[in-house]
Amino acid sequence: METTTDVERIEIQLLLEAVYRRYGYDFRSYAEASITRRIHRHRNLNGYRSISDIQHVILHDREAFLRLLHDLSISVTEMFRDPPFYCSLRKCVLPKLKELPFIRIWLAGCATGEEVYSVAILFQEEGLLDRVQIYATDINESAIDKARQGIYPLEQIQEYTRNYHKAGGKSAFGEYYTARYGHAAMQAFLKQHILFSHHNLVTDGSFGEMHLIVCRNVLIYFSKELQDRVLHLFCESLIEDGFLCLGSKETLRYSTCSTQFQEWDPHERIYRKRSNAS
Ligand SMILES: C[S@@+](CC[C@H](N)C(=O)[O-])C[C@H]1O[C@@H](n2cnc3c(N)ncnc32)[C@H](O)[C@@H]1O
Repeated sequence: METTTDVERIEIQLLLEAVYRRYGYDFRSYAEASITRRIHRHRNLNGYRSISDIQHVILHDREAFLRLLHDLSISVTEMFRDPPFYCSLRKCVLPKLKELPFIRIWLAGCATGEEVYSVAILFQEEGLLDRVQIYATDINESAIDKARQGIYPLEQIQEYTRNYHKAGGKSAFGEYYTARYGHAAMQAFLKQHILFSHHNLVTDGSFGEMHLIVCRNVLIYFSKELQDRVLHLFCESLIEDGFLCLGSKETLRYSTCSTQFQEWDPHERIYRKRSNAS
């Protein structure tokens, strides 16, 4: 395990400052331990002698910056990740959303899209997909491209199929993709309801009038202050009575906007914005 010296800590701060000032991506408030780990990994894999060397190169070379950006944003994901969360979404949230004529959903930090297709499948199975518009966003452009394509290696599909059934899936999972050349391509009818776009939770503004926001396993990488800022952004983006879903290790409890929400399923980290919340 690598230790971070005081000099390295300064180098990391300067690198993140350089990234922000040159390219506008703000990682300065990310949780120190995880960003440090990823910068060390990037340095080792790319043969840089020091962190200052990374700074020197990325300031002049956009391609090198994009490689760093890719390593700074971890896009680990899977379909129907944490199946009990999807059971709860189906049982406790969708019946409420059913009452609406149109449902706007924001999936923030959607990575390569597996979570987005899972949510679309859930709404399809509850007969709601025709009324749904999903906005799926991420900071990582190459992840967004993959999400837009919706093509995943077949080896992963076995595990996704198991997750899908544990999540209360009602059909044969094979109905949602076409298999070809060792890959599964998600069906076009799911994609019709999804708009993929680039959005940076740290620097970009709110998405208005959302009925459901799903942002799972993203806040864990942020400092407490940044988490709070982003949670306010979600609060602002939700309609009254709208739902917010976080990841299993994330909570609203310590946020200054926690009073504006009620815990809807505390175990699965599902919250509902109070109707009198400002
Ligand atoms: C671990 S993945 C989580 C993917 C998915 N939500 C899930 O739970 O399976 C974290 C995602 O957050 C994205 N991310 C990190 N910082 C972000 C930011 N400032 N704005 C938007 N997305 C960000 C990363 O690019 C990555 O795709």
